[in-house]
Amino acid sequence: MSATQKGSLICIGTGMMLGGHLTPRARSAMQHADVVFLAVSHPVVEKWLESLHPDVRSLQDCYQPGVPRDHAYQKMVNMILHAVGQGQKVCAAFYGHPGVFACVAHRAIDAARKAGVQATMEPGISAADCLYADLGIDPGKTGCQHYEATQFLFYRRIVDPAAYLILWQVGIVGDATHARLVTGTTERECLLRKLRRVYPEDHPLTIYEAATLPLITCRQDTVALKNIVTADFNQHSTLVIPPIAVCQPDNEMRQMLEKAGDTQQNWQ
Ligand SMILES: C[S@@+](CC[C@H](N)C(=O)[O-])C[C@H]1O[C@@H](n2cnc3c(N)ncnc32)[C@H](O)[C@@H]1O
Repeated sequence: MSATQKGSLICIGTGMMLGGHLTPRARSAMQHADVVFLAVSHPVVEKWLESLHPDVRSLQDCYQPGVPRDHAYQKMVNMILHAVGQGQKVCAAFYGHPGVFACVAHRAIDAARKAGVQATMEPGISAADCLYADLGIDPGKTGCQHYEATQFLFYRRIVDPAAYLILWQVGIVGDATHARLVTGTTERECLLRKLRRVYPEDHPLTIYEAATLPLITCRQDTVALKNIVTADFNQHSTLVIPPIAVCQPDNEMRQMLEKAGDTQQNWQ
């Protein structure tokens, strides 16, 4: 990338719902770009975004069956950076929020900045935002832990039973190859076994899928923990596990605050 030929990069989120979630700032970023790259969830969404700019290029072809997703992600980063390197003002649009459970925007921005190019991220409405609205969850009330489902299996994570636990990419839980579109009984049984360390087998979980098209309602199916092995998970399902315990007081901290003069003691 030569000094005289520097382009710029802005990564935007298109939100979850066709036509309804694109913010004015994201729309403006698209319209002011020379070229727009797209990684969105639905061909209809692609068609709609193509109507907003004359040079829209889909990144979907980067995915090849049986090839680890990371290869596709790197290919996407390379395509985006190549255009930036040609001195173009590049907009890369991702469904939801471009930086939530999505690595391409973060990688492309890091690489562009290292090359001395201006690169920014514009937030979008993520699946989590829709989930809070549709399921009536305030993450500030009990706290809320979010994990990628496979990472949750592969590592020892500390689950707080007094907070919500949200597992992303549950449809491909346990996929060590990073190439599969769906995983099966063995991986689900591992997830069941891990969750049973914390939750009773009748604990009610919600399989959540935000609406992506207008006039369609979200999916919010309740399933007992013991039944997750046979539950109907899709690539776009998110698993919501409600708390089973109440927060335990930290008396040392309370006493310190009391001594410091905070005598209101109205913590819930
Ligand atoms: C690679 S992440 C992309 C997340 C996206 N960047 C966002 O901001 O929501 C894919 C995961 O997001 C969640 N997801 C995607 N679409 C969803 C939907 N319509 N409803 C609920 N969760 C969804 C699922 O957990 C899915 O496995």
